[in-house]
Amino acid sequence: MSRILTGIQSSGVPHLGNILGAIIPAVELSKKFESFFFIADLHAITTVRDADTLKKNTLATAAAWLAFGLDTSTNILYRQSDVPQVTELMWYLNCITPYPMLANAHSFKDKSNRLSDVNAGLFTYPVLMAADIILYDANIVPVGKDQLQHLEITRDIARSFNHIFGETFIIPEAKTQDSHMIIPGTDGKKMSKSYNNYINILGPEKMLKKQIMSIVTDSKGLEDSKEPNSCHIFQLYKLIGSDEEVQDLKNNYINGGFGYGHAKNELFKLILSKYKKPRSKFDELMKNPQKIENELQQGSEKAKEVANSVLKKVKTNLGLM
Ligand code: ADP
Ligand code: TRP
Repeated sequence: MSRILTGIQSSGVPHLGNILGAIIPAVELSKKFESFFFIADLHAITTVRDADTLKKNTLATAAAWLAFGLDTSTNILYRQSDVPQVTELMWYLNCITPYPMLANAHSFKDKSNRLSDVNAGLFTYPVLMAADIILYDANIVPVGKDQLQHLEITRDIARSFNHIFGETFIIPEAKTQDSHMIIPGTDGKKMSKSYNNYINILGPEKMLKKQIMSIVTDSKGLEDSKEPNSCHIFQLYKLIGSDEEVQDLKNNYINGGFGYGHAKNELFKLILSKYKKPRSKFDELMKNPQKIENELQQGSEKAKEVANSVLKKVKTNLGLM
């Protein structure tokens, strides 16, 4: 049976784009395949510089997986740093990774152009990611398109290790989501933490309302007939609402006498009703961080079993054991 594995960085509280684009599809996959999901806190510290923020975001990311129904009795949810075997494997992989492959990676070039602090962790980020994947014998890695090059690097490193030291690692495959699942943000660009255009559907009502009210629209007046498909409010509503709800909103747009303020209010009500259960589960978990911590500890124990057995094979093949 195939094993699915993916990681999400704990660089923020998961927003609607993360939830519809990554968490919900991954939870669906986890019903069919044995799945390993982890919170990539070691990757997050390449940029996060505040302990409380990192801790809070790690718990919130774990709580989001649990709130959207991840069943931890059949799947594994863990914090990357709780299985330090991954950093040991990273060193072994570092020693066979060609320097130019990392220097030419798009995401490194992009980050080193944008950030003032270009640390070595950003440079070796793909090697840690390769270790994340091949330490657990993962077959399939669901990722966004921006991560495809990192998966190619992982495959190159795994193949090269197998070639030099003998068959050790499974060569994983990337699985990208359909492009239509790019969720737009409040300004119509891809929703992202880095554009500050996100909607935090797990956040307090007041904050959620404020984010929805900030969705950018054209300047049509209340009475005007409006074009639903080019409106960001409608685009978001369409991703969440039932066919009937979407048709009703569409009619309101076309008929006129229905302003963008009304549409925003409809979207706000829809999010509250559609995500009532995950929102309350998320709040309950965030009030009980020990519960989340217990889930993560239990996950890391199971993850360590696989990690130790793969690492033993690696050390034997390297001649360290
Ligand atoms: P962000 O852009 O907010 O920093 P990440 O890059 O940390 O988000 O993404 C975490 C996961 O969520 C990835 O699998 C990514 O593909 C998915 N994701 C992020 N934003 C979106 C979006 N707007 N639409 C669909 N999926 C998204
Ligand atoms: N780099 C990924 C991202 O930013 C997160 C990640 C870290 C990951 N390790 C991974 C994803 C291993 C898949 C597999 O989205």
